[in-house]
Amino acid sequence: MLVINSETFTLWKDHYTRLQDVVRAWEPQGGRILTLVGSKHQAFSDYPILPLVRTASARTLMDVFSTLSIAFLDEKLEQALSSTSTRKMEIEVVARVDDLMGMQACNLQNLPENYTMKYYLYHAMTWPSLSYVAEDNKGRIVGYILAKMEEETPEGEEPHGHVTSISVLRSYRRLGLAKKLMVQSQEAMASIYRASYVSLHVRKSNRAALGLYRDTLGFTVKDIEKRYYADGEDAYAMHLSLKS
Ligand SMILES: CC(C)(COP(=O)(O)OP(=O)(O)OC[C@H]1O[C@@H](n2cnc3c(N)ncnc32)[C@H](O)[C@@H]1OP(=O)(O)O)[C@@H](O)C(=O)NCCC(=O)NCCS
Repeated sequence: MLVINSETFTLWKDHYTRLQDVVRAWEPQGGRILTLVGSKHQAFSDYPILPLVRTASARTLMDVFSTLSIAFLDEKLEQALSSTSTRKMEIEVVARVDDLMGMQACNLQNLPENYTMKYYLYHAMTWPSLSYVAEDNKGRIVGYILAKMEEETPEGEEPHGHVTSISVLRSYRRLGLAKKLMVQSQEAMASIYRASYVSLHVRKSNRAALGLYRDTLGFTVKDIEKRYYADGEDAYAMHLSLKS
């Protein structure tokens, strides 16, 4: 099954998540969803095709639909996409002061655990390849991962990485950004710092984060830390081995 939808629909989180669930249920192996960046739907998933928009715009849309649909039916979708201008959300290593400010703004919107700018800077300067930002197509920071190597490793123990914080702005969730941020940081922990595993804490009630860590990435619960958070909630201490 091929579904082509508008950018505004993809960013309409609740509906996009439902669409992903439908596609996955119907075609667990082969379903594809393509988003036409910059396009808007008229109502629900209907595009404004003739006579609602100017003929030229409608023709362009129809051309894209037919090219992609025919390529999909001919099993040549990848080829067609490689000659179409595509735009992805980018994951970039934290490198600019603006990145740090974007991370802090994102963190303040998403989580009650907040940090000073000095703490972000300390992470970026001490472990320059472990923290990343996700940027939308206009360069706005819509997600981040703040990560480090554990500083107090007991003697004889192998070094390990730790995720201090991760979040993605609400309307950009369920697009795979957090997974990409985690994988990118984990790879750097293993290849640059020889980390044997990565650890993190998560609230027992955080269903989305647990889904990401346990179901998607394969983390396991090592311990329950009672009243770990300032409001008294318990944390799961989770680990993922980075040894292949
Ligand atoms: C947790 C969070 C970072 C996930 O970000 P995201 O970009 O939406 O996650 P992804 O799109 O990469 O999702 C990857 C997987 O995580 C799981 N997941 C993500 N959101 C989920 C949700 N709401 N419910 C259940 N599982 C969820 C799914 O297994 C998902 O895979 P799928 O989409 O193929 O089913 C995001 O919800 C967030 O910022 N929450 C607020 C901040 C926070 O709680 N941070 C973690 C602190 S420990």
